[in-house]
Amino acid sequence: MDPVNVADYEALAAQRLDPGVAGYYAGGAGDERTLRDNVDAFARRRLRPRVLVDVGAVSTATTVLGSEVAMPVLVAPTALQRLAHPDGEPGMARAAAATGTIFTLSTLATSRPREVCEHAPPAPRWFQLYAFRDAALTRALCDEAVDCGFDAIVLTVDAPRAGRRERDLRTGFAVPPDVDMPAVRAALGAGACPTPAEFFSLVDASLTWAAVERLAGELDLPVVVKGIQTAQDAALACEHGAAAVVVSNHGGRQLDGVAASIDVLPEVVDAVGGRLEVLVDGGIRRGTDVAVALALGARAVLVGRPALWGLAAAGEPGARHVLELLRDELHLALLLLGCPTPAHVTREHMG
Ligand code: FNR
Ligand code: LAC
Repeated sequence: MDPVNVADYEALAAQRLDPGVAGYYAGGAGDERTLRDNVDAFARRRLRPRVLVDVGAVSTATTVLGSEVAMPVLVAPTALQRLAHPDGEPGMARAAAATGTIFTLSTLATSRPREVCEHAPPAPRWFQLYAFRDAALTRALCDEAVDCGFDAIVLTVDAPRAGRRERDLRTGFAVPPDVDMPAVRAALGAGACPTPAEFFSLVDASLTWAAVERLAGELDLPVVVKGIQTAQDAALACEHGAAAVVVSNHGGRQLDGVAASIDVLPEVVDAVGGRLEVLVDGGIRRGTDVAVALALGARAVLVGRPALWGLAAAGEPGARHVLELLRDELHLALLLLGCPTPAHVTREHMG
């Protein structure tokens, strides 16, 4: 049976992945309450469709940080994509380019920025940065991304250390010796086979908001602050020169017990008051979930696991199909909501 939705790809990925990798991809922190609530929170929301609106021509297109995208669904940064499939990050980048959306390359990727740019067509792309304690290595990573034409830096701020990933403890998951993680091997040495806790230990836990201003100033690229979970920090992001924030709890992988990101979104949107773009990730599995995020004020969403599941199931074509499914589901959701474009979706469309 051909997969017809994200859940079908989740099942296919579970069948294909090594148990350690499956656990690393699926897992959350602690009791995985936030992991579950990220998805359950969407089930608690109700859409309010309007009728007899001309939806003869519906488009999912929008812009994010000035980049035109075919849909307000971006590919979130997820580490170690060659553990999903040999196509890895270059394949994911090609899938994103083919569906007209933005791919975000993780610092903890199995490909360098240059390899992605050499093996994927020109398209808007973002680089997600973990600021390592090794400032020279961090700068080199950023410089490579800038040299390769990445359009924004996504500074992840909710992971100064790894959350308690008990699935990984049970499986003993570690990066296999034959899988390259260029940034981590540059920090730890060529033969390193780090566990998630070990590669997270490279991150500078002493970062403050000054880092956001410094990055924006030094790199002359928009800085997206990913991992914002309160109105207070959203306001600080505005004051320290961020171009956008991602309301995110890292897919429930960091501090277990925090609120679902979709439930935090409204307070962040209100605190920001239009001063920067607000994105959200965590638990997006349907086009209707994207519509809920738009109604609650998000400019766009990012998907992590869904794209990984597509990559794991069928490489680049699988990742592309997952993005196409979410685009088509969103298109239908807009049509049935009475919204010709994402910009037409407002809080009036939420119960
Ligand atoms: C992630 N995430 C993540 N975030 C980040 O900033 N840098 C990273 O390297 C990674 N790596 C990573 C690996 C895996 C396996 C997962 C599942 C997640 C978090 C990711 O960007 C995003 O915030 C969440 O995945 C969003 O939730 P969903 O879409 O997975 O429900
Ligand atoms: C994770 C890191 C890599 O969530 O962000 O595993």
